[in-house]
Amino acid sequence: MTGRICGTGFCVPERVMDNKELSGMVDTSDEWIRERTGIERRRIITEETTVSMAAKAAERALADAGISPEQVELIITATISSNVILPCTACEVQKEIGAAWAACFDVNAACCGFLTAFQIAQTYIAAGVYRTILIIGSESLSKLTDWTDRGTCILFGDGAGAAVLTAGEGRSFRGILHSDGSKGAALSCSGSHWKADENDSGFMKMDGREVFKFAVKRVPEVIHEVLKLNDCSIDDIDYFVVHQANRRIIESVAKRLDLDAEKFPMNLQEYGNTSSASIPILLDELRRNGVLKKGNRILLAGFGAGLSWGAGILDWIIE
Ligand code: COA
Repeated sequence: MTGRICGTGFCVPERVMDNKELSGMVDTSDEWIRERTGIERRRIITEETTVSMAAKAAERALADAGISPEQVELIITATISSNVILPCTACEVQKEIGAAWAACFDVNAACCGFLTAFQIAQTYIAAGVYRTILIIGSESLSKLTDWTDRGTCILFGDGAGAAVLTAGEGRSFRGILHSDGSKGAALSCSGSHWKADENDSGFMKMDGREVFKFAVKRVPEVIHEVLKLNDCSIDDIDYFVVHQANRRIIESVAKRLDLDAEKFPMNLQEYGNTSSASIPILLDELRRNGVLKKGNRILLAGFGAGLSWGAGILDWIIE
């Protein structure tokens, strides 16, 4: 038995912030941001919240799958920007969508969050514990962003994506996750309630070059590793759906794997880096744009704070 994605959905805030607007806030330019990151604009919450976007993305994914909220047995939400500490976002989503019978918990694995939720869901399904699981990545990163720091504020955006997994026949693939806690300082955020000292703003802090070097080394490595683990060839993969952090990172990964960048779809130009939401938002867009076809084999890869990185493979079953 394996978990197959049978519905997807996403929700992003209405408000668009383009690079031009950002260049009026910090010393940067549209040209610099596009050239170094590929990002052109991002969405920023106004009325929306991590919970409201997660609930909307979840409702769309359930409608897409033709599954009612009452049928959901487990909700896993990946987020680093929940509305409140307690209750968790998954419980709040449960209340919003009426998934009365679901167990609920959140996962904090930053930009590997959706991939982690996917692997947990797969493991539960393979063990026969649950048959219908809703996984969500939802982030309001604008709340954690220092809007005076040009090294970080140009990168991030808000949004949510969701997928419904159901148990069924098909090939099951083993996923991989790695972490190196000794490098955690490269991308950190203490949160406004736990400032380390008076010099700590509480917002996200990042050593951009360090994170860049980490990503372009570790992502190709873990892609090779997951292919080998599952006895797959790189040519078996139709699309590599990689965490949408930076166009240069993704192009460099493609180059290191000696693959055409066409196999690495991107939408980061529209949404920036939405952490745990980036992979499910992209999956849903690809599906609705008719790019993904039934029978495609997809490799998911994530990387980010922790530092953590990982990859997984799935066969696409939606027509
Ligand atoms: N606008 C204009 N100039 C900027 C700038 C901005 N937004 N941010 C930094 N600069 C300047 C720096 O001050 C530096 O100037 P200097 O040469 O006078 O000192 C110069 O640009 C180069 O800075 P550097 O940090 O080396 O740039 P970079 O090419 O590494 O690009 C990032 C910076 C952040 C875009 C890049 O490091 C990156 O994308 N890293 C990965 C980040 C990431 O994806 N994090 C999330 C992972 S989940």
